[in-house]
Amino acid sequence: MPGTCVIGLQWGDEAKGKLVDLLTPNFDIVCRYQGGSNAGHTVVTGDQVYKLHLIPSGILNPDTMNIIAPGVVLNPGTIIEELEGLKAKGITAENLMISERVHVVFPWHIAEDRALNAKKVKGESIGTTLRGIGPCYRDKVGRSFAVRLADMLREDFPERVASIVEAKNAMLAPIAGEDFEPLDAAAITAEFSGYAETLRPFVADTTNYLLDAVDESKSILFEGAQGSLLDIDHGTFPFVTSSNSSGVGISSGSGVPARSINKVVGVIKAYSTRVGGGPFPTEQENEIGQQIRDLGNEYGTTTGRPRRCGWFDAVAVRYTARLSGVSALSLMMMDVVSLLPEVKICVAYELDGQRITHFPSDADDLRRVQPIYETFEGWDTDLTAATSYDEFPDAAKAYINRIGELIGIPVEVASVGPDRAQTIVLAESVSHLAGLA
Ligand code: GDP
Ligand code: IMO
Ligand code: MG
Repeated sequence: MPGTCVIGLQWGDEAKGKLVDLLTPNFDIVCRYQGGSNAGHTVVTGDQVYKLHLIPSGILNPDTMNIIAPGVVLNPGTIIEELEGLKAKGITAENLMISERVHVVFPWHIAEDRALNAKKVKGESIGTTLRGIGPCYRDKVGRSFAVRLADMLREDFPERVASIVEAKNAMLAPIAGEDFEPLDAAAITAEFSGYAETLRPFVADTTNYLLDAVDESKSILFEGAQGSLLDIDHGTFPFVTSSNSSGVGISSGSGVPARSINKVVGVIKAYSTRVGGGPFPTEQENEIGQQIRDLGNEYGTTTGRPRRCGWFDAVAVRYTARLSGVSALSLMMMDVVSLLPEVKICVAYELDGQRITHFPSDADDLRRVQPIYETFEGWDTDLTAATSYDEFPDAAKAYINRIGELIGIPVEVASVGPDRAQTIVLAESVSHLAGLA
């Protein structure tokens, strides 16, 4: 049983962190392989809440190795803060490895993110998390100004920073606005050399470690960040993140061959949310949207921004489930929709008078589509204390079945609250991974 993956099928924040934490005890390794500190994954255990940005959500289980693979972009200050936060809660994170190949996010990336995010693309700001993610990935692909974690441990690191800072100050000055303060190479070198020393014990060749693990038939759980609709190549471009956040990124980001990844669990909310700009066909900018936001506490884990809320979009999720190679669905936030007076699922779009069921590639077309809904009467039941599927009202079961039917993949887990315990097993194939069945 080598590779299983947990992938978000919407625009992020589907509660991937909860599911990864739940599945972890049955895996030898948990691996983050793309994205960076733009991610915010929440794990709730009893009275403890952990908000993880870079550290994989398997970290709470000391018997599982947690890996940050080459496809991640690493902000060293953020991960050190996270490590300190965990330590304060008694978690020493000795089971953490960071690839020497990860690219490092520097202050010039954050300055560039701020400068560019203020500008509009297709009439709207992308609304990034301002964590320097896009500029860091751009420098990685561009190569000339890229710094990997291993480079920070080399003797020539100060000269490298000095030459990059000189170029970046010249590039940033015209785009960053009047209050731009030139970056100080000496200060950055001192700060980041300190980070490198702190992180040195975690730095390793994770690619070899994972390839050995595959040879030894160890089990690996890949933890996707963001959601498939934010994928740089296949999402709602340009309103996306800068990595392959759908299933297509697992192999390139981790170094594990695609044929070793044999199960993909798609995580979906029972409705939709989106943070930042971009088209969102089923968005409810009204009382219903606010009700969902209030009931689901839909505020960003990383930035605290209110999330945009709307109905479940089966057109979008059918597309991403196919794209990400999903074989089972985990349906989260069932407790939230269970309190709404009525619930809707978008089953098709109307575009230029035509009914379509494929997901358009163009952001402008997506802005113009009219969702076609199926409406379900609400079931007004508090599900947060439910412990088995039998306790779900028939109307809730009908809603879940319809989602599975529209996506063409069975819903195997239903979540009724943030805590590990608030998880209901519907079918065997995912639940046996978690020892839940
Ligand atoms: P991730 O980025 O996909 O890991 O998701 P986030 O952590 O950003 O957002 C999910 C939020 O929903 C977190 O605050 C979780 O604690 C919470 N959560 C997870 N599952 C459920 C659920 O079934 N019901 C409710 N009400 N909240 C949940
Ligand atoms: P998790 O892993 C939700 C969104 C941003 C913005 C766009 C680009 O917690 O699900 P970026 O900073 O990546 O350049 O921003 O992507 N975004 C997320 N939205 N959840 C996330 O991560 C996100 N990571 C990025 O809001 O619209
Ligand atoms: Mg999140």
